[in-house]
Amino acid sequence: MKFDTKVVHSNQEPEEPYFPVSHPIFQTSNFAFKSVEHAQKTFSKGPHFPRDMKGEYVYTRGGNPTQRALEMCVADLEGGEEGLSFSSGMAAITSTLITFLKKGDKALATDTVYGETFLVFDKILRKFGIETSFVDTSNLEETQKLIEAIKPKIVYIETPANPTLKISDIKAISEMAHQFDSLVIVDNTFMSPYFQNPLKLGADIVIHSATKYLAGHSDVLGGIVVSNSELISEIRETLFTTGAVLDPFAAWLILRGIKTLSVRMERHQKNAMKVAKFLEEHEKVDRVFYPGLDSHPQHNLAKKQMKGFGGMISFELKDGYDAGVKLMNNVKLCTLAVSLGAVETLIEHPASMTHSMIPREERLKAGITDGLVRISVGIEDVEDIIEDLSNALEKV
Ligand SMILES: Cc1ncc(COP(=O)(O)O)c(C=O)c1O
Repeated sequence: MKFDTKVVHSNQEPEEPYFPVSHPIFQTSNFAFKSVEHAQKTFSKGPHFPRDMKGEYVYTRGGNPTQRALEMCVADLEGGEEGLSFSSGMAAITSTLITFLKKGDKALATDTVYGETFLVFDKILRKFGIETSFVDTSNLEETQKLIEAIKPKIVYIETPANPTLKISDIKAISEMAHQFDSLVIVDNTFMSPYFQNPLKLGADIVIHSATKYLAGHSDVLGGIVVSNSELISEIRETLFTTGAVLDPFAAWLILRGIKTLSVRMERHQKNAMKVAKFLEEHEKVDRVFYPGLDSHPQHNLAKKQMKGFGGMISFELKDGYDAGVKLMNNVKLCTLAVSLGAVETLIEHPASMTHSMIPREERLKAGITDGLVRISVGIEDVEDIIEDLSNALEKV
């Protein structure tokens, strides 16, 4: 099946005896056994093994058919063997990191990772004796030097990075990291599997905040990890033990969102390109960061490793912080809100919102200036989006 067919059909065959066209929501916490022998046989495999076979589910913390349909669908879209779903993107990230890191290990991460991802590394993991070094992973020379110096157990890349839209070379970094047996993890939330497939570029594990483009409608939280079966089975043990599982109804909502992923991503990108060009020419805008613009520092790399440029834009206003506040207080159609990847256009101010937990000095070093504004361009009529921004910019 081609990608656009997979989003609609992958792992969602109508099953006997009712043949429902929409995958059923198995809203159940536990599963009954026909007999003690059936229970014994199921338990002999362990409580959290991959349950492709009917009659082998035990308890929704260890697996559920609706979760499984979503997990295998996203695995198929990413070109991985198996997927695993979580209650949020952060649950997916944290569970994956604690599976593979232990006291004394070192990790390397992109300097502009999502705010809470930064805190997991810098606060939580550090508390348990795991040191993380942050580097601009779009700079291959610096990244190589650091990998050689610290020989990290994990190399964690967010590309395009949130919110600077800097792009890191997944293939080159994976090759460098694998020389030291590091596991390469890529947060692919910004591109979705429609525009980028990190596993095909050499990464070991790909993570999504399914809350964003996969679900796409600002109505559900979720996270997905995709990798080979061996690594997923290790992470599954952490998930089963620590319990950040995805509710079956949430799994179904995400699965439903994925059916329109291809058409939504095309529209997000088309709109974003027009909005980026409008902003680039605006007199009150200093710089625009969008991978699809020729002016983006890694435009050529974006063309090489991504199939498109996505719907995320960030830009700097000439008059900094105050101008940013005025702009956001004057938009009417664009919604002032965190999160991204939804059908609505969302606008936010990273310095005071999503990245406010990163110390100012580190934030500025990573390019997240006080006046940086981030837009997640929605699928509305682009003329309305531009008119709204244009009206708000007049008040700046
Ligand atoms: C790039 C990226 N990764 C991870 C997350 C965390 O995902 P969640 O909010 O689903 O926990 C976010 C949330 O905004 C994000 O933007």
